[in-house]
This record gives sequence, C-alpha cells and structure tokens, in this order.
Amino acid sequence: MATPTMDKLEALENDSTSSHLITVTFRIRRFNPEISAEAVWEDFQLEIDPKERVLDGLHKIKWELDGTLTFRRSCAHGICGSDAMRINGKNRLACKTLIKDINPEKPITVEAIKGLTVLKDLVVDMDPFFQAYRDVMPFLVTKGNEPTRERLQSAEDRERFDDTTKCILCAACTSSCPVFWNDGQYFGPAAIVNAHRFIFDSRDEAGEQRLEILNDRDGVWRCRTTFNCTDACPRGIEVTKAIQEVKRALITRRY
Ligand code: SF4
Ligand code: FES
Repeated sequence: MATPTMDKLEALENDSTSSHLITVTFRIRRFNPEISAEAVWEDFQLEIDPKERVLDGLHKIKWELDGTLTFRRSCAHGICGSDAMRINGKNRLACKTLIKDINPEKPITVEAIKGLTVLKDLVVDMDPFFQAYRDVMPFLVTKGNEPTRERLQSAEDRERFDDTTKCILCAACTSSCPVFWNDGQYFGPAAIVNAHRFIFDSRDEAGEQRLEILNDRDGVWRCRTTFNCTDACPRGIEVTKAIQEVKRALITRRY
C-alpha cells in the first residue's frame, strides 16, 4: 500500500475533524461568591467531536468562550484525580468521560461534586477530604528490624490489598455518599479505602491503630452500604467491599 503524503494526511485529518463535529450544549452550574451567593446554571454551545472528552469541552469554553470558568485538572489522563465532577448527575472524571457516551443530544450538565464547600464554579474545598485521609495514617508504619534491602512480601500478601492501591484520591466516592452529604464528619469511603491499603499490608504494624481510628462514631459504622461509592470510582475499586472488610476486621481483629 502506498504511504500517504503529508498533504494527504493533513487533508484526511481536516476532513475528519470538520465532518464529525456536533453541536453540544454544556449546562454548567456556576458559582462566584464575589458576584452572588447563589449558584446559577449557564448554557454554552460548542462544536465538538463527540469522541472528545468533557474536559476538552470545558477547555474549549474556558479558552474560547469564557475565561472565568473555573475548574481543576492536571494530568488530563485519569491519574491525578483532580477533575472529579458531577456530569449528568453522576460523579465522573471529566478527562475520562467521552462526549459520545453521555447522550450529547441533550444538554450535558456539569456541576461541582457534592458534600464539600464550593469555592468557585467546579472547584470545591478539598481540605476536609484530605484531613480525613491524613487521619487514617496513609503510610507504612514499622518498628525495629530495619532490613538491609527491601521489605519482602509474598505475591499472595501483596494481592490482598492490590485493589485499594489504585486510589487516585479524586473524591468521587466520598462525594457520592449520602452519609457524607448529610454529615461531613464521616471519614468517608476514600479515607477508609486508604486505611484498608495499609491495614491489610503484611509489612505494616499499625493496623490496630488504624482500626481504632475507624471504630470512631464518624468511622466505618456510618457506612450504609449504598454502593454509590463503588459505582462512582473511576478506578474500578470495589470501595464498598473494602469498607466491609475493614468492618469485619474490626469485629474479628483478623487482617
Ligand atoms: S476510591 Fe476511587 S473514587 Fe474514591 S478517591 Fe479513590 S479513586 Fe477516587
Ligand atoms: S485531569 Fe488528572 S485525573 Fe483527570
């Protein structure tokens, strides 16, 4: 097969970008405390390829239509966890959500995640979320017996907590939890997932301490097993299962 020339490639690219564009309405919940105490919905119409992501649409709005639109993002590839938002009423990462998958014939609603104070537009105050994370001691605790090389662990022991190592701290789970919405004191699913990651690590020696922290009135017993957290997790972590395992460890003291 003949190799296409650069001109042909460019022509193909231009053809594919223009012929596949559709008109989409982004309906965004705007909030600017310097202008009003009330949030308002604002519509933006864009021409966009449906194979692009919601994050691309937000960039287009910010760069071409309204530079005041405020949202967080960093990696744009599902790694940093900074662009969790409610898209069509469901918590998702904007950088992992394709326009074509969320019914673009209707307005696409985009709003801040729930349960955390909105600072501006899609940006929330993440301090309470990260405080709960810090409170469960999300780091390896060991004493004595310093190894001369790495701390060894069997493949089976590593597998025990593999799922919860995948967390990117996006808060999609915690901010989809009705218990967290009603009572911001609850540690929330993400903190419990990150406690799980160390409680079940055979090298760690602070499991008891973490379990006691989560035995608190704001700890794991607040969970009502609604599974919202598991549905919301963009990493596919079985969040509710992890919470159940921590509850069981508290009862049996086996982990
Ligand atoms: S468990 Fe999933 S949804 Fe929750 S913070 Fe971690 S990655 Fe996000
Ligand atoms: S921008 Fe990093 S996860 Fe979406």
